[in-house]
Amino acid sequence: MSDKPTLYVDEKKGSDSTGNGTEAAPFATPVAAYLSLNPSTESDKDPLSVVNILVRKPAEGDAPESWSELSGAGKKKLAKGVDVQRKKAAKLAADGERLEKERKEQEARDKKRREEAAQVKIAEPEGKADFVKAYQLPQEIGKRVRLRGWVHRLRTQKTNFFVILRDGSGPLAQVILTGDLIKTLDALDLTVESTIEVTGTVQKVKEGQTAPQGLEIIADWWKILGRAPGGDDAFEGRLTAETDASIRADLRHLELRGETATAVMRFRAAMLRAFREAFNQRRITEVTPPCMVQTSVEGGSTLFEFNYYGASAYLTQSSQLYLETVLPSLGDVYCIQESFRAEKSLTRRHLSEYTHLEAELAFIEFKDLLDHLEDMITSVVDTLMKDPVASEIIKTLNPNFVAPKKPFMRLDYRDAIKYLNEHGIKKEDGSDHVVGDDIAEAAERKMTDQIGQVIMLINFPKTLKSFYMKAIPGDGDFTESVDVLVPGVGEIVGGSMRIADYDELMAGYKREGIPPEPYYWFTDQRKYGTTEHGGYGLGVERLLAWFLNRFTVRECCLYPRYMGRARP
Ligand code: 4AD
Repeated sequence: MSDKPTLYVDEKKGSDSTGNGTEAAPFATPVAAYLSLNPSTESDKDPLSVVNILVRKPAEGDAPESWSELSGAGKKKLAKGVDVQRKKAAKLAADGERLEKERKEQEARDKKRREEAAQVKIAEPEGKADFVKAYQLPQEIGKRVRLRGWVHRLRTQKTNFFVILRDGSGPLAQVILTGDLIKTLDALDLTVESTIEVTGTVQKVKEGQTAPQGLEIIADWWKILGRAPGGDDAFEGRLTAETDASIRADLRHLELRGETATAVMRFRAAMLRAFREAFNQRRITEVTPPCMVQTSVEGGSTLFEFNYYGASAYLTQSSQLYLETVLPSLGDVYCIQESFRAEKSLTRRHLSEYTHLEAELAFIEFKDLLDHLEDMITSVVDTLMKDPVASEIIKTLNPNFVAPKKPFMRLDYRDAIKYLNEHGIKKEDGSDHVVGDDIAEAAERKMTDQIGQVIMLINFPKTLKSFYMKAIPGDGDFTESVDVLVPGVGEIVGGSMRIADYDELMAGYKREGIPPEPYYWFTDQRKYGTTEHGGYGLGVERLLAWFLNRFTVRECCLYPRYMGRARP
C-alpha cells in the first residue's frame, strides 16, 4: 500500500476539474482520481493496484468526518467507470488512426492527380484571337476571341466546366472548358474570383439553353492569371446572406463585386451621365468648386471642422455659394461634388459624405426654377428608361417603378401642415403640426408615401431656412423655396430663389447670427451687378435609392460614410 500514491475523493465537496487529490483539494469521483495518474491502458488491470483511494465519510454524531477506503460497491463502480473510459479512449485512438489514414490516402490521391495534371500541357493555338470585352461578343459570333476576367460563377462537371466570366464591361460571359482544358493544374486550382485569360470561339447557345447575351465561348485554350484562395478563405464563404451587417460593411470592397452592388454602381454612372447630358443640352456649364472651405452654407451644426495650416476650415456642406459666384462669368452652372454633413443621425437617408448635384440659374423667377427642376428630373428619367443597360437595371431592381409625369404636384407648406393634421400625422411628441414647424423626416415620409407621387413642397417659413433664401414678395415670413419629395425616400432636392438685394442679404446674415466678413466674396455678387437667381441641390444617393428601390442610401455609393464609419 505504501508504494502506491494515495488520493482523496469527496463526492460532496471535491471537484474533478479543480481538485488534485490531496486532502485539501479532493476529487469528486474515484474515476477522476484514478485517471489523474495517467494510467497505462492495460484493460484488465485493477485500478486499485496502482492507487489508494480514500473517500470521505459523513460525520456521525460528534465524530468528525473521516477518510476511509472504498466500499465494495465503490470498488465495483470504479472498475465500471474506468472500463467505460478505457473503451472511449480506445475508440478515439482507432478513429484518429482511421482519419489519419484517410487523410494520407487523400493526400496521395491529390498528389497523383496533381502529377498527372502537371503532365497535361495545353498550348495556345496559333491564329488570331483579338482581345475583346464581354459586351462586344454579339459582334463576334463565329469568331475566335480572347477574354480576360474574374470567375464570377463556376460549375464543374465531369466533362465540362461552365465558367461565368465577369470583365466589368457589363454583361457576363459564359465560357465552356472541355477535354484537356479541364485536366490541367490550372483546372484543378480554379476557384471563384480567380482571374483567367481564355481564347475560344463565340457561338450562340443551343435552342432552349440560356447564357448571358445568349452566347457562349467554346474555349480552345486558357490559363489562370491570378488564383483566388479556396477552402476556408474562399470568396463564397466570406459574404453570405447571413453575414452580419457590420462585417458586410467591412467587406464592402468584396460586396461591390456582387451583381446587385454592381448594377447600382453602373446605374449611378448612367444617371450622372444623363444629368451631364441634360445640363449640356441646356447650356449649363459644369464647374468644380473646392471641398475645403471656411464658410458654412447650411448652418454650423453639421460642419466637419479641421485644422488647415493652423487655421480653422471645414469640409463643404454645399457648393451653392461658389456656384453663385460664377454666374456672372459662366452663366448658368452646375457641379457634381461631394458634400459633407456631420449628421449625428443614423437614418437610412443620411450620409456624412454624399454626392451633391447642384445647379444655379441666373435671371429666373421662382416658377422658372420649379419648371426647370421638373424638366430636369423627367428628362433624366426619360434618358435612363431609353438606355438599354439602365432600363434593364430598373426593371430588375425596381420592377414597379413608374416614371413621374409633368406637372409635379406643387404643395404649399401651409397646405402641407393642413394635410398632416387632417390625416392624423402627428409630430414626434404626439401633438398636431402648426405653421412654423419643421416637418420631421418621419411625418414628411408618411405624407409623401400616402400621396404616392413626386411632390414639390414649396414656400417654407423663413425661420426654418438659411440666410440666403429670398422671401416671397408681399408674404415676407415665407420664402421662395422648394423641397422635392419622393415616395419611399422623402426629400431628394432642396432649392430656392436667392436674395438678390444687398441690404436684404445683410439682414439675412444678421438674423442667422453669421458674421458677414468671411462671406465678402459672396456678398460682392450683390454689389457688382446683382440679379434674381435661384438654384438647388439634389442628393444623388437619395435619388438613386428612389429609382432603384434601395432600402438605404448606403447602398447607393461606393464606400458609404456615416456616423462611426469611414472605412474601407
Ligand atoms: O437641403 P440641403 O441641405 O440644401 C443645400 O445644401 C442647398 N445649399 C443646396 C442648393 O440649393 N444648392 O441639401 C440638398 C440635398 C437634400 O435635398 C438631400 O437630397 C441631400 O442634399 N442631402 C443629403 N443626402 C445624404 N445625406 C445627407 N446627410 C444629406 N443632406 C442633404
